Amino acid sequence: MAESITIIDNRTGDSTEIPLTNGGVSAAEFSKLLPGVWFYDPAFMSTAACESAITYLDGDAGVLRYRGYPIEQLAEHSTYLEVAYLLIHGELPTPDQYAEWSHEITYHTFIHENVRKRFLEGFHYDAHPMGMLVSAVAALSTFYSDAKDIFDADARYKQIIRLIAKMPTLAAAAHRFSVGMPFVYPDNSLDFASNFLSMMWKVAEPRFEADPVLARALDVLFILHADHEQNCSTTAMRVVGSSHADPYSSTAAAAAALYGPRHGGANEAVIRMLTEIGSIENVPAFIEGVKAGNGRLQGFGHRVYKSYDPRATIIKHTADQVFEVTGKNPLLDIALKLEEIALSDEYFISRKLYPNVDFYSGLIYQAMGFPMEMFPVLFAIPRTSGWLAHWSEMLDQDSKIARPRQLYIGTDERDYVAIDGR
Ligand code: CMC
Repeated sequence: MAESITIIDNRTGDSTEIPLTNGGVSAAEFSKLLPGVWFYDPAFMSTAACESAITYLDGDAGVLRYRGYPIEQLAEHSTYLEVAYLLIHGELPTPDQYAEWSHEITYHTFIHENVRKRFLEGFHYDAHPMGMLVSAVAALSTFYSDAKDIFDADARYKQIIRLIAKMPTLAAAAHRFSVGMPFVYPDNSLDFASNFLSMMWKVAEPRFEADPVLARALDVLFILHADHEQNCSTTAMRVVGSSHADPYSSTAAAAAALYGPRHGGANEAVIRMLTEIGSIENVPAFIEGVKAGNGRLQGFGHRVYKSYDPRATIIKHTADQVFEVTGKNPLLDIALKLEEIALSDEYFISRKLYPNVDFYSGLIYQAMGFPMEMFPVLFAIPRTSGWLAHWSEMLDQDSKIARPRQLYIGTDERDYVAIDGR
């Protein structure tokens, strides 16, 4: 027998039986009994906004899967480009499909010269690279008139390729501009991560050779950040996309959502926190301060994970490999001490607060030489494939425009009073 719940309207005695489908109950069914009564759920704590076949996340068990594949297996055996293909297409590619996909992405990494010369170089000299990225992605929509043909399969696919391919180029360009270095063109002979590192760090050498351990570590970080179901930025992507805006405008909205310290800015906040703590001896006092309400332990806690974030486990391992090449980040010992104390402290245990993906990612990025301003940019590069997978899925589902209701709490009707009578 199918699972269902029955609700009774005690005002009228009317009842309705609502099936439980995929673990959810339909608000539309509820509304049959309750017309004009809205479900009050700020921040969507109890609301599933869509059906999705992309990412499975069990926050209590610490499970994360893309299209059914455990994140641990993908991080160990796959590449970011293969994962991007998986997210967009739903299946891992065959060798031919992978070769074609890699070729397509590689040959769409260049940006129009005017994006750089007229647009990026118009920013103030100390512009934040994430602000530049958000604006540049939005500006791309004005360069591709076919971007509006979102129900034309070929045009849609073309924009997906372009966006995944051009994000590293825009990201590196934003960094180079912010430090006064000349723009580096993509090198089509390099893989995705190595090409990005070349565009970031190349100076006068004819060809930049990224350390393979660092290139692989970055690729693993890209895999871990590629999707995370209905997080804030993906929700922004789906909401803006539901108005049938073009994918560049929707991606810019998603990137803007990622900019905030509660989302993509959290690893920067972790580094600032560790720097402020300064040494291991100060850790216990800092923890006591957090418990007393003086700020939060950055990189801890998650809306969905109520156990160890599986991405954090993988990142810790990646950090060890990176530090063997770069030398240990001096903030690591403080981070380890914070984790040790927090994981045995009743405050954090009772609230199920564990390290999330951002607790260690900033330490790795910093050791690799990335300035803190680039941290959210580094998040946006791989999350673009996740955003686009959700955007495309949503369009195929023929979903309605996102338009929640509100509970009005303002004043009742009143008459206008002329300014000299107030
Ligand atoms: N440090 C100290 N206390 C915390 C923390 C923290 N990092 N996070 C949550 N709490 C406490 C909070 O004070 C509250 O306690 P009480 O019930 O006594 O009022 C309780 O835990 C529940 O917190 P909440 O704010 O209701 O939880 P939320 O699900 O709305 O917030 C969060 C999730 C990620 C915004 C929050 O845990 C946080 O601010 N963490 C620090 C920032 C951070 O690391 N963000 C990165 C998230 S992972 C990257 C991503 O996916 O974007």
